[in-house]
Amino acid sequence: MLIVRILLVSILTGLSAPVIAELIPFDKLPKVNGFTIMDGEDEQYLAATDKGLFYSQDQGRTWGGFEGFELPATMITKTSQGSIYAFVAAKGLALLDRKTRQWRVVNNEFGSQYLLQLTTTNGIPARMVALNQYGKFLVSDNYGIEWQKMSGKYQPRTAEEERGQKIYMTICQSCHGKDGVGENYSIQSLTDKKYISAPALDASAHAWHHTDDDLVKTILEGSPRSPRMAAWKKAGITEQDARDLVSYMKSLWTQRELDCQGPKHMECMN
Ligand code: HEC
Repeated sequence: MLIVRILLVSILTGLSAPVIAELIPFDKLPKVNGFTIMDGEDEQYLAATDKGLFYSQDQGRTWGGFEGFELPATMITKTSQGSIYAFVAAKGLALLDRKTRQWRVVNNEFGSQYLLQLTTTNGIPARMVALNQYGKFLVSDNYGIEWQKMSGKYQPRTAEEERGQKIYMTICQSCHGKDGVGENYSIQSLTDKKYISAPALDASAHAWHHTDDDLVKTILEGSPRSPRMAAWKKAGITEQDARDLVSYMKSLWTQRELDCQGPKHMECMN
């Protein structure tokens, strides 16, 4: 999480520089993380770079930037149907409208995840499989509008998890993201080093390094590091609510994190 943040912050140094309105030569192009060529008569190169999405209409000699998308772009791809998708921090997954040449955001619920790859087939074009920076697969069955883990859509298994999920969706999800994926990137979180994002509570961050009691305590008493993580007991969250919230969080972990929770996590890191 921290490494990702440092990476993105370092990528963004210079974000405040003026938006590139004119074409720039190839050697001025920010570091390229992904690349594709659009099919059609007007052969167009497209690049996902550390400072946004760029296009070239002269086979890569000069490049123009897409306005509004001058944020770290981690991936760009052409589907088997010829559609172009890109992943841009703080914007999420975007689809290029070839007629208007505008990017349209398809889904921005990825939290602290970003996509490195996305693949489709001709057989079932609505089905997409993507890979995030943690090496985990994500799947969509409706052209990227909704995503779930490869293991399937989240389902609570016990009454505690279900209760916890309900409270989570009402109070916590706005910061900690859908299914605990963490807070979305934003210009502020990417540029302000002091900004403390709401971490992922699923298996991807460090929530599982804490014991149940520690997690309950954080929920009830808040975090000394950031007033954004409030003392939720003051807002009426009871000890039982907090325990159910922890049950819900733990239902988002895999057996590895459950086995390695708390002080044991150090041994499990090797
Ligand atoms: C306004 C945004 C916001 C809301 C709403 C919010 N949190 Fe947080 N939460 C944060 C931030 C920011 C942190 C990081 C604090 C830190 O690093 O010390 C955090 C940290 C945590 C942690 C510690 C995670 C770890 O890995 O150490 C837990 C657990 C947690 N929140 C649970 C919850 C629960 C459960 C709710 C709902 C009752 C909730 N939060 C609501 C912003 C929020």
